[in-house]
Amino acid sequence: MASKPTSKTKDSDPLEQRTAQKRILELRRLLKIYNREYFEEDSPTVSDSEYDRLKLELIELEKKYPELDTPDSPSHLVGSKVRADFAKVEHSKLMLSLENAFNEEDILNFEKRIRKVIGLPLEKPNPWMYICEPKMDGLAVEIIYTKGKLSKASTRGDGRVGEDITENLRVVRGIPSTLKKNLSLEVRGEIFINKEDFEKLNKQRKAEELPPFANPRNAAAGSLRQLDPKITANRPLKLFTYGIGLPLDCKAKSQDELLSFFLECGLPINPEQKLCKNMAEVQKFYKDLETKREKLPYEIDGLVIKVNEWRYQEELGFTSNHPRSAIAYKFDSPIATTLLEDIDVQVGRTGALTPVAVLKPVSLSGVVVSSASLHNEDEIERLGVKIGDIVEVVRSGDVIPKVIGVKRDARKGKNLKEFKMPEQCPSCGTKVVKTEGFVGRRCPNSHHCPAQSEERIIHFAFKDALNMEGIGPQWVRQFIEKGWVKSPSDLFSITEEKLMTLERMGDVLAKKMVASIQSRKKTTLPRLIFGLGIPHVGETLAQKLAKKVKTLSGLLEISDEDLLSIEDIGETVARSISEFRLLNIDEIKKLQNLLEIEKAVEVKGPWLHQNFVLTGSLSSLSRSEAEEKIRSLGGTAQSSVTKVTTAVIVGDEPGSKLEKAQKLGIQIWDEKEFLKRLKKI
Ligand code: IVH
Repeated sequence: MASKPTSKTKDSDPLEQRTAQKRILELRRLLKIYNREYFEEDSPTVSDSEYDRLKLELIELEKKYPELDTPDSPSHLVGSKVRADFAKVEHSKLMLSLENAFNEEDILNFEKRIRKVIGLPLEKPNPWMYICEPKMDGLAVEIIYTKGKLSKASTRGDGRVGEDITENLRVVRGIPSTLKKNLSLEVRGEIFINKEDFEKLNKQRKAEELPPFANPRNAAAGSLRQLDPKITANRPLKLFTYGIGLPLDCKAKSQDELLSFFLECGLPINPEQKLCKNMAEVQKFYKDLETKREKLPYEIDGLVIKVNEWRYQEELGFTSNHPRSAIAYKFDSPIATTLLEDIDVQVGRTGALTPVAVLKPVSLSGVVVSSASLHNEDEIERLGVKIGDIVEVVRSGDVIPKVIGVKRDARKGKNLKEFKMPEQCPSCGTKVVKTEGFVGRRCPNSHHCPAQSEERIIHFAFKDALNMEGIGPQWVRQFIEKGWVKSPSDLFSITEEKLMTLERMGDVLAKKMVASIQSRKKTTLPRLIFGLGIPHVGETLAQKLAKKVKTLSGLLEISDEDLLSIEDIGETVARSISEFRLLNIDEIKKLQNLLEIEKAVEVKGPWLHQNFVLTGSLSSLSRSEAEEKIRSLGGTAQSSVTKVTTAVIVGDEPGSKLEKAQKLGIQIWDEKEFLKRLKKI
């Protein structure tokens, strides 16, 4: 149990220390529960990343308040107690755990610490190599071979004493019971189950009305720790070896030699490993492995970086919990947990009120996230979320992050505030309404609500509308603040002189922005109709509408009856279009005079009904040129990958769209392939 603070840390005030102590106790309580669930019951209730985060928070607090640290804190535990029903095995050498790194800064600090111990100045190149191996998400085991025969096998347990699983491992087909060499070795490695086998196993369990395993790691652990080896024998367990206890008959002098030696002995090793000269190469391997992660047949949660040569490993030694010569470089979790500080309400271009979560900034898939969508009040109710809650946030594909869950167990003792949607528009104060066809509330003041016109102007310049490159929301907001722009057509009156009065503006950029705006005076009718921002009129409907009305004046003149004859246009949409043009006659006429609208050409083309997504930059053509090419062949350029995407075209430095495509099994074309297909047509 935690001891009472005996002395006060320098600089820490008593209140802060009391808060820290409370938090430390809470973290220890949670970690002990999670440890038991994970190690003894093989049924965790929190994700590994959530566990890591809590453990890290505890370690940092104990570092800051050393007087609050106690030897029995779960922060010092390597694993957990062994199950009473298994015989115990004492490891001849401790089976430690690894320290975690989460970003580039952490691995650079890891190297700095190594240099300090070895006494190598920062400017000198390191004489050692690093070997990187995938961090298998399985179960650590030790297998002892005596004169080539499997004689004892154990789990890690608490690092000092593990469980005897000899009889279970003996029957696993993927684990050699005899080595190719007549040697004695203490081999360490990871037992795991392939993703595909895991799915099959769970299907089988479902058929037998048994509870499914939460993930492949738990399935591996549960399979291994069976009291009846016959059950283990039927489980598709696999092994990768990566370490050694006492070296015994092993003559290797480095990790890469050890892995080759294991192969010669007939022990399985992971083929995905790389020797790196420095941290830049390590970082590259990390990125490559992260891209490959989904495709690998087994689960990994990062990579393990090890100093390759054993003489350096020995010199570096150990801290109380970890070797100083290795570190686990974890992949970012796709779920982050953070504090919901507040809920803001934003007014969209069609007047819809959207609650937006204001979050304590948190890193999520390599990006710092400080706000996330809460969609509408129904969603808030469904989640049961309150201001002050700890929430779970995800980013999927390119969409803005969203809140997906609430940590109810973190609520105790917290001051939570219920959230209520406002009765009045936060931008113009008009009483909000619930309109048919809209989920949630709307501000009905579509013509004079400042938030709505701002969003409409931003939308007008947006890439799928008029596509004014470089004229993003930040700039548009400044134009509005300056009073230069009150409606979309005013964008065309922006001059270089005006732009030069803005902060952080140079003449090259000003010229470029004006040219970008002016170039869009030439546009197409579907883009313009979509750009107007008529409620309910998206890109596809804008195309259908353009085909029917043919010109902008046609849009003003079309009868309600003709509108209703268009596929996908019902009463609500027809009313929305009629109302919009009535309120915006002057603006539409202004645009008609300003713009040169290209005659619509009906595209049929070979790529009709095919959808393409671009990610990363192409070297031979710009993004909009590539999109035009796709459209000219009848295809659609989508902004994010969905199930109906035909292919993803991948350029340099692709984003998460590539991963999503891989996940969905969608065709991936590199630039060469894309150009080849364009040429063929
Ligand atoms: S080396 C001092 N290499 O990660 C421990 N561990 O937190 C040295 N793991 O207990 C372990 N893949 O269960 C090592 N290629 C790998 C690994 C690996 C997975 C696990 C292992 C270990 C834990 C460390």
